[in-house]
Amino acid sequence: MSKFIIEGGHKLSGEIAVKGAKNAALKIIPAALLSNQPISISNLPKIEDIDRALEIVQDLGGQVELNADGCVINTSHLNRHELSPTLANKLRASIMFVGPLLARLGEAKFPHPGGCVIGAGKRPIDLFLEGFEAMGAKVSVRHGFYHLSAKRLQGCEYFFTTVSVTGTESLMMTAVLAAGRTVLKNCALEPEISALADYLNTQGARISGAGTPTIIIDGVESISAGNFKIIPDRIEAGTFAILAAATKSAITITHCQPAHLESLLAVFAKIGVKFEVGPDWLKILKADELKAYSIKTHEYPGFPTDLQSPYTVLMTQAEGASIIHETIYDRRLLFTDLLAQMGANIIMCDPHRVVVNGPTPLSGHKLTSPDLRAGISMVIAGLIAQGTTEIDNIYQIDRGYADIVQRLQQLGAKIERHE
Ligand code: EPU
Repeated sequence: MSKFIIEGGHKLSGEIAVKGAKNAALKIIPAALLSNQPISISNLPKIEDIDRALEIVQDLGGQVELNADGCVINTSHLNRHELSPTLANKLRASIMFVGPLLARLGEAKFPHPGGCVIGAGKRPIDLFLEGFEAMGAKVSVRHGFYHLSAKRLQGCEYFFTTVSVTGTESLMMTAVLAAGRTVLKNCALEPEISALADYLNTQGARISGAGTPTIIIDGVESISAGNFKIIPDRIEAGTFAILAAATKSAITITHCQPAHLESLLAVFAKIGVKFEVGPDWLKILKADELKAYSIKTHEYPGFPTDLQSPYTVLMTQAEGASIIHETIYDRRLLFTDLLAQMGANIIMCDPHRVVVNGPTPLSGHKLTSPDLRAGISMVIAGLIAQGTTEIDNIYQIDRGYADIVQRLQQLGAKIERHE
């Protein structure tokens, strides 16, 4: 099994470029099924989750041609409405294929999606099913498979009782081909949603309000396809910014959109991390002392749950006590046990809250990456720690961070991949 070997305690410096956003790419690939014309996707990150999503496209009868910066997807010969359980089990975002399949082929069959184990049991899909039902789909469950069918989906009004990113994107893209008007309320506001809506509108969709809590979609018979450039990954950019602060290094992050990181930068201003911002770059200056500051994760534009684990590592190096309140997932703080094994002083109050007392030196340790974001956080912890850290189960990290070893090595990090 592959692992990372990290020798910590070294300062980093230099520039790191951000790749395209995983969580935008994972939506535009299924959205390719909405049109029978080829779509060209650029700035596509080369990560495991994208490979799996492209395998799903091929498994459904679509064609994928890879090129240097992305791929071209042609779904004119889409011929299968059933998601492979092996692929669906690897990827929560496999659920994103269901709506477009239903809209294109009138039918979709799929198992419960897999992905990061960060929420109780299987992460629920009730909002998707309710939304599709509201659009007129018949839903049944047999032998562990969901079966959805609808001759033509109908526009509907749907209120998300829980704000859901993929739920919003899924119902929004599916409604593009439904008959009549769909009104979605209490929608998620993430920038990836507006990027998707903007693209679909250039191809003939009629979506308004994306990026606000109410999205209105007037259904059309068909849409065309064109070029989609994936927006920079704000979570990757934020992760590198936290890495710079935690290792007290000066690092410039390029090819990013600092405007999507306002919540993190507001917190940086409070904890003593100095930075400079340009339109597409962010320079983190060498921090001297960090002050503890409590955070509460929140839907965009609040503090992202996907940056909670790197921030928790950062707080082990800050002076004072901070409360990390993870409001969205109830298993995303379990990784703090690994941090405690490295020497952090962390008290778990309940599954949603920990208290971090800092600063504490960390020491190298043998660890297993629990999930994507906790995994990259253990890399950050390893780079801070004295001694050697060994991380296995790194498939979890490769799922979301492309060429991470080479890119961190360019900053001077002592990290190696051992096959
Ligand atoms: N939820 C339900 N029912 C549903 C769907 C969601 O109760 O049908 C609940 C979830 O259990 C959770 C809350 O709603 O408590 C919010 O989850 P959401 O649906 O927004 O999460 P998601 O759409 O599955 C996306 C990202 C996650 C990111 C969250 C929150 C993708 C592919 N995934 O997940 O990214 O943490 O939004 O911002 O876009 C990651 O990249 O590491 C990652 C996990």
